[in-house]
Amino acid sequence: MPLVTTKEMFKKAYEGGYAIGAFNVNNMEIIQGITEAGKEENAPLILQVSAGARKYAKHIYLVKLVEAAIIDTGLPIALHLDHGEDFEVCKACVDGGFTSVMIDGSKYDFETNIKVTKEVVEYAHSKGVVVEGELGKLAGIEDAVNVSAEDAQFTNPAEVEEFVEKTGVDSLAIAIGTSHGAYKFKPGQKPRLRFDILEEVGKRIPGFPIVLHGASSVMQEYVKIVNTYGGKMPDAIGVPEEMLRQAAKMAVCKINIDSDLRLAMTASIRQHFYENPDHFDPRQYLKPARENIKTVVKHKLKDVLGCSGKA
Ligand code: G3H
Ligand code: 13P
Ligand code: ZN
Repeated sequence: MPLVTTKEMFKKAYEGGYAIGAFNVNNMEIIQGITEAGKEENAPLILQVSAGARKYAKHIYLVKLVEAAIIDTGLPIALHLDHGEDFEVCKACVDGGFTSVMIDGSKYDFETNIKVTKEVVEYAHSKGVVVEGELGKLAGIEDAVNVSAEDAQFTNPAEVEEFVEKTGVDSLAIAIGTSHGAYKFKPGQKPRLRFDILEEVGKRIPGFPIVLHGASSVMQEYVKIVNTYGGKMPDAIGVPEEMLRQAAKMAVCKINIDSDLRLAMTASIRQHFYENPDHFDPRQYLKPARENIKTVVKHKLKDVLGCSGKA
C-alpha cells in the first residue's frame, strides 16, 4: 500500500466517533515504535514531521523511513507536515512526497490567514495532497512556534464557516485550551478544555474534521521515572485522557501527540543509564526506548483514541 491522504481516515473517524493519532517522528526508533504499535492494533496512522524534524533528520531520510514502515506493516499511513510556516515549506513537502500538509497561519490576522492558507490549498490540491489549517492560537513551545499563555487565543466559532469555505482546507485545527509541550496547566489548576467551543464549531461545519494539537497527557508514570533518575520536571501536567476520549467522540478526528513520546523515550534512556552505567552501545538503550514508545502508542490507540481495528 502506498502512502495515503487523511481523507478516507477522517471520514470514517468522524462517522465512527473516534480519532486518528498523529504522532511526531524524528528518527528510525520513533517511527518503528509507533508503526509497530499501529500494526499490533491494526490502526491507521498519521506520522507528522515538524520543521525541526526536517532539519534534524533531513526530509529524504524521514520519507524513506516512513515508506519502509509502510512496506513493513502494510498499514494505511499518511505523512503530514506539522506546523508548516509558509508556502515554501508546504510546497517542498508536497513536492517531496508528503500526502498532507499543515499551513499554520494562526500567527496572522484572519484575512491574512485565509490568504496564506488558500494559496497552499490551491497548490496542494493540484497535486492530490490535503491541507490542515489553523484558527485560534495555542500556547506553548515548539521549535518554530513560541506562543505565551497571554497571547494564546481560543478559536472563535463564528469564523470557522467563512475560513473553511474561503480557503478550501480539508481539516481545521482549533484552540480550546490545549497547549504544546509538557507544562500545559499550572500546578493545582484544574485542567479545563472549552468543549462548548468544540460543540459550536461542530454545529457550524457538520461533518468537517477538527484537529486537536497539544494533546499529550504528560503521562505521570514517565514523569516519575524521569525525575527518579536525575530529571527535573516536577510540574509537568497534560490533558487528561478522559477529555481526549470525549473530543474523539465529537468532531475531533486527528489528535496530535509528541510530548508523551519524548517523555517515554527519555524516561527509558535515563533509567537505562542509571542501571547500566557501563553501557555505550546505542542499541542497548535505544531498543528499550523504542519499546516504551510502542507501549505508549498502543495505549493511546486502544484506550484513548478508539482507532484500534480501524485500519
Ligand atoms: O507541536 C509541535 C511538535 O511537538 C514538534 O515539535 O518543532 O520541536 O519538532 P518540534
Ligand atoms: P504535545 O506537545 O501535547 O505532544 O502536542 C504535539 C503537537 O500538537 C504537534 O503538533
Ligand atoms: Zn501542534
